[in-house]
Amino acid sequence: MNRMKIIIEKRNLSELAVEETLFHNANGYLGVRGCFEEGTPEGAQSVRGCYINGFYDTVDLKYPEALYGFPTTAQRIVNLPDVQTVKMWVNGQAFSLSEGTVMTYKRVLDTDAGVTKRVIRWKNDQNQICDIEIRRLTSFLEKRLFVLKYSVTAVNGELNIELESTVNADVKNHSNPNDPRVASDDEAHLRIESVDSTDAGGCVVCTAIGSGLSMAAAVGHTVKPQSKLTITNSDTEIMTKTSANIQQGQTLTVTKYCVFADSRGDCDPLKTVNTVLSTAMKNGADYYFKNQQEYLAKLRANAAVIFGNESDNDALAFNLYGLLQSASTDGTGNVAAKGLSGEGYEGHYFWDTEIYIFPFFLHTLPKTARAMLEYRYSILNKAREHAALLGHKKGALYPWRTISGSECSGYFPSGSAQYHINGDVAHSFMQYWYFTGDIEFMADKGAEVLIETARLWLDAGHYNQNHEFCIDCMTGPDEYTCLVNNNYYTNRCAQYNLSGAVEVCSVLRQRGYSDVLNRLGVTEDELCEFRHAADAMRLPYDVKRDINLQDDSFINKKVWDFDATPKENYPLLLHYHPLYLYRHQVCKQADTVLAHFLFSSGVKESTIINSLRYYEKITTHDSSLSKCIFGIMYARTGNVEKAYDYYRDTINTDLQNRHGNTKDGIHTANMGGAYLMLVYGFAGLRYMENHLLLSPVLPKQWQGYSFSIWFRGSFVKIMVKRGSVILTLLEGNPVRMTVNGQKVLADGRLEVNLDAI
Ligand code: BGC
Repeated sequence: MNRMKIIIEKRNLSELAVEETLFHNANGYLGVRGCFEEGTPEGAQSVRGCYINGFYDTVDLKYPEALYGFPTTAQRIVNLPDVQTVKMWVNGQAFSLSEGTVMTYKRVLDTDAGVTKRVIRWKNDQNQICDIEIRRLTSFLEKRLFVLKYSVTAVNGELNIELESTVNADVKNHSNPNDPRVASDDEAHLRIESVDSTDAGGCVVCTAIGSGLSMAAAVGHTVKPQSKLTITNSDTEIMTKTSANIQQGQTLTVTKYCVFADSRGDCDPLKTVNTVLSTAMKNGADYYFKNQQEYLAKLRANAAVIFGNESDNDALAFNLYGLLQSASTDGTGNVAAKGLSGEGYEGHYFWDTEIYIFPFFLHTLPKTARAMLEYRYSILNKAREHAALLGHKKGALYPWRTISGSECSGYFPSGSAQYHINGDVAHSFMQYWYFTGDIEFMADKGAEVLIETARLWLDAGHYNQNHEFCIDCMTGPDEYTCLVNNNYYTNRCAQYNLSGAVEVCSVLRQRGYSDVLNRLGVTEDELCEFRHAADAMRLPYDVKRDINLQDDSFINKKVWDFDATPKENYPLLLHYHPLYLYRHQVCKQADTVLAHFLFSSGVKESTIINSLRYYEKITTHDSSLSKCIFGIMYARTGNVEKAYDYYRDTINTDLQNRHGNTKDGIHTANMGGAYLMLVYGFAGLRYMENHLLLSPVLPKQWQGYSFSIWFRGSFVKIMVKRGSVILTLLEGNPVRMTVNGQKVLADGRLEVNLDAI
């Protein structure tokens, strides 16, 4: 995407696990944490991991007091056989960062090339010096492939090099019993079916014990200059050894090709990995390195960029690259909360995708956005079963967290009770419809999701004495306030979902797709009920304060005593019993403010501003999904400086480990938030009645910014500079837009002058 390099020149072993996250390699299917090939230096904490998006095992959920309908099994992403290990001896001494002398050290994430590398000059205890360069990539072209290219050059004389490369299938997942954001037990998830060596490496086949899914990995090596490989294997491990004497200035390179496949997409994963491996070895690693660069260059040409502030631009690039690394593109998976960079939240998919991540793909890679919707469609039947389990007579309820479609949340107050996920999913389908106009997809899949989610709201809600449509006992995005009546965000989502379903049904009917409505059993009466409930939706509002209320009871609670809360007690969820939190006015994250961002129509500007100020005072931002939303609303309401502060915090969340848990993986929703802030916050993008509106502002720290958007088959680049906005039509038909109230037609290159910025 955007050009950037993160370079670390200091070795900070206490932050090793954080670095492993930041320097992970992933391509939406396969993810490999950036662990040291030679192993973890003594005293450092490491989470050695490798994952396939959506490849899971099942785990039992145990409750001392189980009640009806609690999920009894959950899915968990599986740590796969470890292929990262390559150990080296230089004249008999093992290379490691804690032995010999590290003369120079550089670790690089190059989003331009789509690779990570370590470049080290190392001296052993006999003063023999070598240069080591290790380059790694997970290919965007061949998603099953991870390549590790290990080169060593003799610097001051002849060296004897021995290399030992392993595949270890005896692996477990990472766990921490004291942190609810990672798994608490350390059960083994893989049963090893076979371990075999070949003439260039070997292959392993494993089955996830609970889910029965199977996977295979095949590994092959090439050595340059050619030297003999000695390969052995045990029941759990394959070991490939080679050794050579190299003269001063000469380089020895071992390239390790690692291929993974799993039974969800391949009926014979072993056959697939062997075929892909032989093609990859024929093509050679350089072919994939080159292709990676070309692929990213194409995307970069029109990616989001910030001008005049290198560190903000680099941080933005890091975030966008993180999204690209995390997104499944084939409809079988989604974007996990931590992408493929770690095991936090056990590889689960949440609403994070639909609300925070989806827009980036919708604007820049609509096919990937569509694949995300395909995934939601693929689990619609499970969502129907889930709704029935929770007592609903009709409709579908998406699980709060899942991999394969069933609910994986063991704590329903801040899990299954977040019914807003239905509205979030509906929101992404509506956005897709608005931005692409893809009627075939809506007829085929979109309408069904919209109708089934809308049906659920009708079943879940009821009319009160004042004829308002009420939705009781649910939890909004703010997980410090649970099981409330009429959460404003949830009700807004439900309203949007109900009217979206009506709108799409009417378009389908007008465009000759009535058969779709018949197939789904939609009647005119039902659409009337949807419309009526949407119109009568209860949306709590406080006249005196002119704010929307988070829910019916929120404002009557005691305000949290922030002055008496020590800094080390954040995030509050790790220090206070949930009930204590629920009794206070304290928010983990944007809730009503998020509703004002997504559903602003009909809300007075004063209500938006008052609500923003009110909720800001009581929001801890303990969730990384929060600050970007406050930033967007500050940008939209004209406080650019404050918005900019929120932006800095958002884009640096992982780069500076601001939540203290980047070791468990990147925060993909927050990364999406970085994009949302630029496009929906600073540029003020909105969709309204068939066209796009912009109302840009520009932080004083920047000279400008640009991004590009696919809209109804046209691709438009939007560049905001001081005093003007330049619209360039890159592809397709001219696009009608409104810039700060001026109606314009984006055709060719158009510069719109703006005095205000
Ligand atoms: C947030 C949720 C989010 C989840 C996964 C939690 O901390 O409160 O809104 O979906 O993290 O990112």
